[in-house]
Amino acid sequence: MASIDAAPDVPQELILLGGSAGWMMSPAFLARFKSILLVDIDPWAPRLFRLRHGATLRRHAVRLDFLCGDVHELLDQALAAQPQACVLFDNFLGLDSIYTRNLEVTARRMRGIRQRMRGRLWGSVHDRLSGPGTADWRDAACWARDWTARSGHELPQQAFFASVQAQGPWLDHHTEHVLPPGLNTHLIAWPIVPGRWHWLEAAWVEGR
Ligand SMILES: C[S@@+](CC[C@H](N)C(=O)[O-])C[C@H]1O[C@@H](n2cnc3c(N)ncnc32)[C@H](O)[C@@H]1O
Repeated sequence: MASIDAAPDVPQELILLGGSAGWMMSPAFLARFKSILLVDIDPWAPRLFRLRHGATLRRHAVRLDFLCGDVHELLDQALAAQPQACVLFDNFLGLDSIYTRNLEVTARRMRGIRQRMRGRLWGSVHDRLSGPGTADWRDAACWARDWTARSGHELPQQAFFASVQAQGPWLDHHTEHVLPPGLNTHLIAWPIVPGRWHWLEAAWVEGR
């Protein structure tokens, strides 16, 4: 995702929401923090996270704490516990409409995140679209391409569909309101399994 290094005065604490085992996390990114507060509804998340990243955390003396439960209920508690921390919504917001089964509730929650993040440096990586595509995932041209967009503007959807040889139907993850309008974002094509593609959006927001 867009590099956090582009932001000035990056805090030394990170609140990592929906971090799971940190499958998508680079050790170098984690090592830059003094403490990480992982919040996940999955009670196995901290064990899995340590299995994957324990050596990095130990080597760089990064403290790992864990809150187990629904981010939407625990967010205020996490923010109060870490008043200086930056916050990363780590690829779970795209699941929201599947949980709520109500697009209005999801849209309200997504817009609400921007309000709740006022005064913070925060970022999100989330699904925008997903579906079948017959492009060979080993073809680096499909997913290594640097797609960019501006939040609130139309996505370069047709070019993306052509590049992954999309077949219908595709799922809209209803995350178009997560990021404030007018922000430069990165779009990442990700072949989650052969024949199925996710299109992720990622950006950091200076909510200061
Ligand atoms: C797609 S995985 C994210 C994987 C993670 N980004 C990684 O790199 O490994 C989604 C994670 O978010 C968690 N999750 C989904 N909705 C959540 C919620 N409302 N509150 C807390 N955790 C949630 C799931 O338990 C799961 O661990």
